[in-house]
Amino acid sequence: ALYYDSDCSSAPLAGKTIVFVGYGNQGRAQALNLRDTIQSENISPAPRIIVANNKDSYASKAEEDGFGFQTDWAATAAEADILFLLVPDQVQPKLFNESLAPTLKKTACVVVASGYNVFYQFLHVPTSNDIVMVAPRMIGTSVRSRYESNQGFPCFVSVEQDGTGHAKEVALAVCKGVGATKGGVIESSAKEETLMDLFAEQAIWPQVIATFREAYGTLKKLGCSDEALVHELWLSKEPAEVFEKCADDGFISQLRYHSSVSQYGQLKGSMEVDTGALKKEYQRVAEQRILNGAFAKEFMALDTEGPGVDKKLDELYDEVNHSELAEGEARVRARLGLN
Ligand code: NAI
Repeated sequence: ALYYDSDCSSAPLAGKTIVFVGYGNQGRAQALNLRDTIQSENISPAPRIIVANNKDSYASKAEEDGFGFQTDWAATAAEADILFLLVPDQVQPKLFNESLAPTLKKTACVVVASGYNVFYQFLHVPTSNDIVMVAPRMIGTSVRSRYESNQGFPCFVSVEQDGTGHAKEVALAVCKGVGATKGGVIESSAKEETLMDLFAEQAIWPQVIATFREAYGTLKKLGCSDEALVHELWLSKEPAEVFEKCADDGFISQLRYHSSVSQYGQLKGSMEVDTGALKKEYQRVAEQRILNGAFAKEFMALDTEGPGVDKKLDELYDEVNHSELAEGEARVRARLGLN
């Protein structure tokens, strides 16, 4: 289902205390949008917005934007009727379970912007509470800029726990408040959102990275230069333009912008790819990495038992930067004076 402005009432927000835990990419954009909606819709009594944040650069931004900030998690959670949990996903479980949940009102609605911690049940939310997902498919700056230009943004919504019996009305009011409903909000679930999000990250893009890496190696061996390869494969931004046309005109229809040689090559080639191994790999990632929780367990353990997420990422970058593609690109960028 799709929900538009006219399907949603702001009434469930009236008189409520709305707490933003986190004022980063999403927190800032959504809080600013909500404050503007409260004014433009003249919601009465006006909801109160509180930003809860550690004293850091994000908190300074909240102050600059006129929200101020509270650093006492427990006291702020105790006031929340609606609590947006907008700190990084890996930070949420400890912060929520230890510092927010103990004082949370029994009827408060917890709003998450990604399905991850809900689907994997990392948040311990009492059954009397509501949990809703309002998950923009856009980075925070676009969430704000599209609102400012009176457009909506693609967003998923779901009710994950309906402790009060009114979670859906609150979820839709939140969607409207943050400005998502102008473009139509898509009904989804934490499971669907998590599966698709992690699948893109762990199945689709790794294939793309590996495809480019292997293509680079193959063509290099056949005598193509680093300069030519880097420009041909991505520096020209041709792939970026192709994906833009996929959104504008259609995934297949955009092929018509290419030459006949290219269209024939792409269409015929796509039918000839041996997809057997790919199907197996996609099934493996979906079922044995994502849906069964193996990836989430492994990722969370990096900080608790392993070297830590940042150190592990450094190690992975070291490894990946040893490919012919990465080394070739580094030489080209240095020669061109690019960073
Ligand atoms: P972010 O990385 O911008 O979060 C920064 C905020 O988290 C700051 O307020 C910072 O003070 C706080 N923070 C960081 N570490 C903390 C800690 N250890 N303890 C307490 N506070 C801490 O987060 P972002 O990217 O806005 O993500 C928030 C949620 O939105 C996540 O669930 C994410 O999956 C979701 N989301 C993010 C999108 C994006 O554009 N980045 C797009 C759609 C959803």
